[in-house]
Amino acid sequence: MEMGRVGSIDQEFAAVTGHWSPRVVADLNGQSVKVAKIQGDLTWHAHADEDELFLIWKGQMVIEYRDRPAVHLGAGDFHVVPRGVEHNPVAAEECWVVLFEPSETKHTGDVVMSKTKTVSAQRAHLTHQADGNAS
Ligand code: NI
Repeated sequence: MEMGRVGSIDQEFAAVTGHWSPRVVADLNGQSVKVAKIQGDLTWHAHADEDELFLIWKGQMVIEYRDRPAVHLGAGDFHVVPRGVEHNPVAAEECWVVLFEPSETKHTGDVVMSKTKTVSAQRAHLTHQADGNAS
């Protein structure tokens, strides 16, 4: 990322097309900040070694758990999904989420499905910027 760059979360969300398609907006200390628009449910999955923070920017969502009560989140709320715990994100209406997690975190865990977007695809636009082809 360029030195001195000022990012806009709203502009990053505007660049998101489709649901369950995380977009990396910044990297720091081995972590990535990502934005995603979600609607419906993703899939039950876990991240063996990564905690995953959800910060709700707009709308509402639920994080379902198998072994504990579901967590209901609205705009401005945040929640950390602990590593190794099976969870399923669900949003009845479109919800905008900011995610903080290690850069290599797979958003569907070890599950591979049509909604799965690889980490390299989540950050492909950054590669284009580095090449001088600002997107
Ligand atoms: Ni997850």
